Amino acid sequence: MNRRDWIKLSACASAVFPFVGLTKPFLLENPIEKELKASDFGEDFLWGAACAAYQVEGAWNKDGRGPSIWDTFSHKKGKVHNDENGDVASDFYHRYKEDIALLKKLNFKVFRFSISWSRVFPDGTVKINQKGVEFYHQVIDECLKNDLQPWITLYHWDLPQVLEDEGGWANRDIVNWFLNYVDFCTKEYGSKVKNWMVMNEPAAFVGIGYMMGYHAPGKKSVSKFLKATHHACLAMAEGGRKIKSNVPDSNVGTTFSCSHIDPYRSGLKDIKAVTRMDALLNRLYIEPSLGMGYPYDAIPALKKIEKYFKPGDKEKLIFDFDFIGLQNYFRVVAKKSLFPPFLWAKQISAKKRDMPVNEMGFEIYPEGMYKVLKQFSEYKKIKNIIVTENGTCFKDKIEGENIHDEQRIHFFKSYLSNVLKAKKEGVPVSGYFVWSLTDNFEWSEGYEPRFGLIHVDFNTQKRRVKDSGYWFEEFLSI
Ligand code: BGC
Repeated sequence: MNRRDWIKLSACASAVFPFVGLTKPFLLENPIEKELKASDFGEDFLWGAACAAYQVEGAWNKDGRGPSIWDTFSHKKGKVHNDENGDVASDFYHRYKEDIALLKKLNFKVFRFSISWSRVFPDGTVKINQKGVEFYHQVIDECLKNDLQPWITLYHWDLPQVLEDEGGWANRDIVNWFLNYVDFCTKEYGSKVKNWMVMNEPAAFVGIGYMMGYHAPGKKSVSKFLKATHHACLAMAEGGRKIKSNVPDSNVGTTFSCSHIDPYRSGLKDIKAVTRMDALLNRLYIEPSLGMGYPYDAIPALKKIEKYFKPGDKEKLIFDFDFIGLQNYFRVVAKKSLFPPFLWAKQISAKKRDMPVNEMGFEIYPEGMYKVLKQFSEYKKIKNIIVTENGTCFKDKIEGENIHDEQRIHFFKSYLSNVLKAKKEGVPVSGYFVWSLTDNFEWSEGYEPRFGLIHVDFNTQKRRVKDSGYWFEEFLSI
């Protein structure tokens, strides 16, 4: 089992269940797509592409970098598809100039990347690795030189292994370890970088890493899941405050995985399953920061998390983010089930429902983007939403220097149409970042799924822009 199974915590409908009213939208020509123009999104709309340290950097043991949980996890047999790892990845550590030049060529204005905590603090907390610190200065400077805005994610899942040895996200001390790291990075780079994201998708790194065990650190424990959830939520809000106090005029956000969820059948049982699944996947990590607490209303068993509260925590969980990063990859279809306990719901895979999927089995469901944007805009406290990740993986067709990926172009057109539709209806969405700039290491799926606008030959590290990259170049040139 792997991440695909986690995704099966969501699902579909189809010709078999016509009440959900779905066709195969991906395969249809959509009239809005044909007319899609970047200028319709407005002059200030931010266009970017994203990546994450462990997925691209490589150089896992170079220049003083310490091991992260992903090094340990991927070096164990049987954890990652084909026993692959991020030792080399797309070698961004040595090729960042080439990748940033390509990003610029494709007419993007924003580069979202993350800092590897263990490259800066190999021991997690005290010893500073000057070469690692310098590397991120170089990446930032290269962006600025090319007139690109650097947007930094502070935590994209690669915890220093030494901290996991002390319990990782399940140890309350992590809040202070994390704040120490955030304090250092924002003081070090804050004069050049104004746009910060505290974390990437806590639902994923906590849920898959501490409960399902398919991602690093590979733990499967409900109590660790609850502790890690609370500590991640505290660290997210406290991290936000730390950035604000260190970086004048900063724009501070954090990112969430967000999926539209439909019931498998129209009866009450599956509708209630949707409510619980929605609490777990969409509400659990954002609502505490909005001052709403954890969603006990939908999953009463979550109240057990209060065992890990200390006085003052309720207030500490709250932080007024300048923007919310919304990341959408698939739709979830939920059905009542006797397992797992407390959730009493499971996902029905898109394949089973005969819906169009990408290489990882994610359902292609462009309307889901519109629907989650609407859902999140209903939180009155959210002032600004940026789609900080959206993208897909299909088999690319290689013909000499050309990489054909027609389906990806169609994917972007249809998802962007839905972003625009939401924007036109008043959803405060002000940017869209493609996942991902280059092909990279797709966590427990290894190198097989390719999400890039730029193809990477992992034997030679040669980069070739895919047709979808050229599509963006033209789309953004207007
Ligand atoms: C993560 C990325 C990942 C992408 C595709 C997102 O949830 O932030 O790191 O590569 O999904 O699976």
